[in-house]
Amino acid sequence: MIFFANPYLQYLENKNEIKKNIDKFLKKGVYILGNDVINFEKEFSNYIGTKYSLGVNSGTDAILVSLKALNIGIGDEVITTSHTAIATVSAIISSGAKPVLVDIDEDNYNINHNYIIKSITKKTKAIIVVHIYGNPVNIKEIISIGKKYKIPIIEDCAQATGATFDNKKVGSFGTFGCFSFYPTKNLGALGDGGLVTTSNKQLAKKVNRIRQYGWNKKRDIAYIGFNSRLDEIHANILSVKLKYLDEDNNRRKKLAKYYLQNLNPKKFKLPKTSENSEHVYHLFVVQTKKRNQLIRRLKDKKIYLGIHYKKAVHQEKAYAKFCKIPKGGLKNTDKIIPKIVSLPMYPQLKFKEIKHICRILNEE
Ligand SMILES: Cc1ncc(COP(=O)(O)O)c(C=O)c1O
Repeated sequence: MIFFANPYLQYLENKNEIKKNIDKFLKKGVYILGNDVINFEKEFSNYIGTKYSLGVNSGTDAILVSLKALNIGIGDEVITTSHTAIATVSAIISSGAKPVLVDIDEDNYNINHNYIIKSITKKTKAIIVVHIYGNPVNIKEIISIGKKYKIPIIEDCAQATGATFDNKKVGSFGTFGCFSFYPTKNLGALGDGGLVTTSNKQLAKKVNRIRQYGWNKKRDIAYIGFNSRLDEIHANILSVKLKYLDEDNNRRKKLAKYYLQNLNPKKFKLPKTSENSEHVYHLFVVQTKKRNQLIRRLKDKKIYLGIHYKKAVHQEKAYAKFCKIPKGGLKNTDKIIPKIVSLPMYPQLKFKEIKHICRILNEE
């Protein structure tokens, strides 16, 4: 049986270290925002290259907390892509702001900067770029749009922990970087978790308060917050896993290279990496005109594929009514949605397995 992701196999690789750490955590008896969270936040900031990291409950909350720290809410617009996890847009709607959905580049599935510029209005208060599938957006181009129009950039790095643009980690370019530690992510906890990176001291202080009801250390309240804390137990496990992240991402890159060299390009449209960037292949997504057939055929051989995503956000009725969608629609997004399929991709996938997968994929 081969799944498209398999966090359990990763756990098995680090089982002894994780168990030892959990034991230490249980003996300490500190469960919420203790030293394990503080240490992990420091380690993560060092890794990404930002001054501050603040652990929260999920990647969705990381985006929501960032928007709230920028005082974004009712009456404001936030530009993002429709080709993302529903979570990106869910966070914008939860803030009270209106998501403005723009189209992607057909080649790399990332938000297109020209469409961003066309969608900017007086109400635009942030641009959220998603490094989709682990493939970095041309973030320098986006940062210059942000500077020109004085709009903060939030990077949704949920799928791209460890990816780089111009040799700098994503999540270190924007006003905020938002990370998810959902178990299947490149850096995954054993449950929910997320984190916000920033190098702005005032904003870091604000996020620190918002994630805990608005409290500071003395529990004085300056403004309203909610409860979105990264648990000690997850921070503790994430500290172990962070040590192996680069190695794991390199294993993903090697597997991706194998797919790229061995899949038949006449049958599959293969992913492209943006220039100056290092893709970390959270997902390895190809396009095929015969998606349903392919999924069924591989399922018969006990190989399970995924689809990310079956519908773009503007195609989800419940969400679309809260979003602004350009008059001409989102043509590139609509074009790829029926064809995309995610192939098995996780560091523990064996070469003999990927060889077997490629052979079956290339068969008619
Ligand atoms: C692009 C993107 N943004 C945000 C999220 C939300 O993360 P979480 O599931 O931790 O809330 C995800 C996770 O699926 C994601 O892939």
